[in-house]
Amino acid sequence: MSRLGESTPGRFIVLEGLDGAGTTTQGALLAARLLERGIPVELTKEPTDGVLGKIARAFTDGVTHLEPETVALTFAADRIEHTVEIRALLEAGTWVVSDRYVASSLAYQTSQGLPFEWVRTLNSRAMEPDATIFVDTSVEACVARLAARGEFNTGPFDQAAALEKARALYLQAFASDVPLGRLVEIAGDASREQVADAIWDALAPLR
Ligand code: TYD
Repeated sequence: MSRLGESTPGRFIVLEGLDGAGTTTQGALLAARLLERGIPVELTKEPTDGVLGKIARAFTDGVTHLEPETVALTFAADRIEHTVEIRALLEAGTWVVSDRYVASSLAYQTSQGLPFEWVRTLNSRAMEPDATIFVDTSVEACVARLAARGEFNTGPFDQAAALEKARALYLQAFASDVPLGRLVEIAGDASREQVADAIWDALAPLR
């Protein structure tokens, strides 16, 4: 417990899930709840809006082809730059809620055929989050949400089979000893309020 007048370091919370799982919505709901309780919080995401994140997004949007190795290196490099910002926020006592971080690379880049250990090594300079929350929405629900947004089958990862594969690889990453902080799996097919409540409850030990 911190003494009065002492600044408390922020917490680093990562939201993970398949495309369409609802991580962006849940990040916003979590940040709003933290703010309501007077906890300073910054919402952030990967790929970032920085130069490296823009290259990664050109690939995920299907605008440009890049080799899987190049994609993995770009996400890892984007993450190094992102981590500098995250660290500064945490040191200033701000909580950081990131939409995706290391686990996304472990799931999506290995789904492109890259060795898990290589992707892990590329990311070994990233920061360990206080918690990684996996919003585990079924592939069927993700596909339905992506289709409703006109985002189904528009990028290289949006196909149902690719989502199925990414889910299995997420689970593999969570079963590994990669430092991802407190691991929380939340059933994602419930209503957005129910999912938000489950995330909030899971974070109680960190508040
Ligand atoms: P997403 O998070 O859904 O953002 P948006 O809704 O703005 O498109 O998409 C990011 C995509 O990038 C998603 O398909 C997962 C992929 N990705 C990786 O392949 N590796 C990574 O390390 C990260 C952070 C994302």
